[in-house]
Amino acid sequence: MNKKLFYLLSALMIVSLALASCAPAATEAPAATEAPATEAPAATEAPAAADQVEVFSWWTGGGEAAGLEAMIKVFNATDPNIEFINAAVAGGAGTNARAVLATRLQAGDPPDSWQGHAGQELIGTYVAAGQIEPLNDLYASEGWLDVMPETLIPLISQDGNIYSVPVNIHRANVLWYNPGLLEANGVAVPSTMDEWFAAMDTLQAAGVQPLALGEQWTKMHLFETVLLGTLGPDAYNGLWDGSTDWGSAEVKTALENYAKVLSYANSDSASLTWQDASQLVVNGEAAFNVMGDWAAGYFIELGKTANTDYGWAATPGANGIFQFLSDSFVLAVGAPHRDAALEWLKVAGSKEGQEAFNPVKGSICARTDCDKSLFGEYLQSAMDDWSSNTVVGSLTHGVVANDSWKTEIDTALGLFLASGDVAAFQASLVAACASSGPCK
Ligand code: GAL
Repeated sequence: MNKKLFYLLSALMIVSLALASCAPAATEAPAATEAPATEAPAATEAPAAADQVEVFSWWTGGGEAAGLEAMIKVFNATDPNIEFINAAVAGGAGTNARAVLATRLQAGDPPDSWQGHAGQELIGTYVAAGQIEPLNDLYASEGWLDVMPETLIPLISQDGNIYSVPVNIHRANVLWYNPGLLEANGVAVPSTMDEWFAAMDTLQAAGVQPLALGEQWTKMHLFETVLLGTLGPDAYNGLWDGSTDWGSAEVKTALENYAKVLSYANSDSASLTWQDASQLVVNGEAAFNVMGDWAAGYFIELGKTANTDYGWAATPGANGIFQFLSDSFVLAVGAPHRDAALEWLKVAGSKEGQEAFNPVKGSICARTDCDKSLFGEYLQSAMDDWSSNTVVGSLTHGVVANDSWKTEIDTALGLFLASGDVAAFQASLVAACASSGPCK
C-alpha cells in the first residue's frame, strides 16, 4: 500500500543523490505535427510564435494518441489562443523519442514541455542535468498539494523543489490473457511462476502460442515483472537501493525463470511493437501477454470487451503488488514559450484534463479526486489495487533507476537475448550496479 511506497521513495531519493545521469544517443529526427489553432490571435496580441506550446511525448497511436488528443481538446477549449504543437515521436516507451529529446536538449533546442517519468528518470536525469524548472509556484496557485498523492511528491522533488506535473498512474505488472483460450484448454489464471509455467506447457502442447512478446523494451518490461514475481517486493526494492545483491542465488533463480519465460514467446518478437504483441492476445492468437495497462486503452480503441476478449491479473508471483509508474509533464529550462507551457501544465494537472485523458489512455488519474464512474472495468479495478496493494516502482518506465543505469541493464539484456547465457547476464547486472547504481 501507499505507505510502503513512501518508504521506497525515501530510499530512492537517497539513492538518487549518488547517481549520475547519461542520455542515450540520437537515432531519429523529431516528427512534429501541428494542430491547427482554434482561433487566430488578435492583431494587438503578441506575435504568433508566443502563442504556441510545443509538447513532446511518444504517444502516437494505440490508445496513447487518443488519450493525448482528449487532453489537447480540453487545452484548446481552455486556451483557444495558444496553438498546441504535438511533437510526439513514435516508439513505445519512448525508445526513439527520448533519444531525439536528448539531442535537442544537448543542442539547446528544448520543447517547451515533455513527458518524463516520475522517479529516477526525472530526478536522476533531467533535474541532475539542470534541464527542467521547479514548479512550486504552480503547485501553490493550483492547490495541487491537496489533490496529488503525498507519496508521489517525493518522486518528483529534489531539495524542496517539485519538478513535474503527474498526469496519471500506470500499472506495469499486468498479465493480460485470452479468457476463451484458457477456458478451452482447461487452464486457470496462474498466480505463481510455477503455475504459469504449467499453464504455458499445457497451452504449448495443445498448439496454442503461450506468450506474446514484442521488441526489446517489452522484454525489459517482462524482465522487471519476473524479478518482482521471483524475489518478492522487499528483495525487488533492494535491487535498487543496494540491499539486494545482484550476484545472489535468488537473483540467479529470477534470471533462470526469465530465461524460461522467454522460451514460451513468439519467435518474431523482435519485429513486433507492444501493440502488435497485445493484439495477438485479443485476437486469440496467443494466450498471455505481460504489458502495462496502456494496453487497456488500446483494447478499448480496438473495440474489445473486458472479460470477454481479454482478462487480467497481477503478473505471476506478484498478487497484491502494484508495480507502478507515473507519466508527468515538465517545464524546460529556456522554454521558448514559457507562459504557454505553464498554461499547458495547468490543464495537465487539472481534474478536467485528467478525467479526459486517463479513461482513454488506460491509466488512472494521478489526482485523487477524479470521478471513478468515468472509468471502465479494468481501470476501476486498478484504482482499488492502487489504494490497497503494496506499491513498488518500474525499471523500464523510469521509477527505480536513472538513465545511465537503465541503459547498462538494457545493454546486458540485449547481450543475454542473443546468447542465452544466464551467468554472463548476472555478471553484467552486478557490474552495472557497481558502475551506475548504488553498489559503487
Ligand atoms: C511508457 C509510458 C506509458 C506508455 C508506454 C508505452 O513508458 O509511461 O504512458 O506510453 O510507455 O508506450
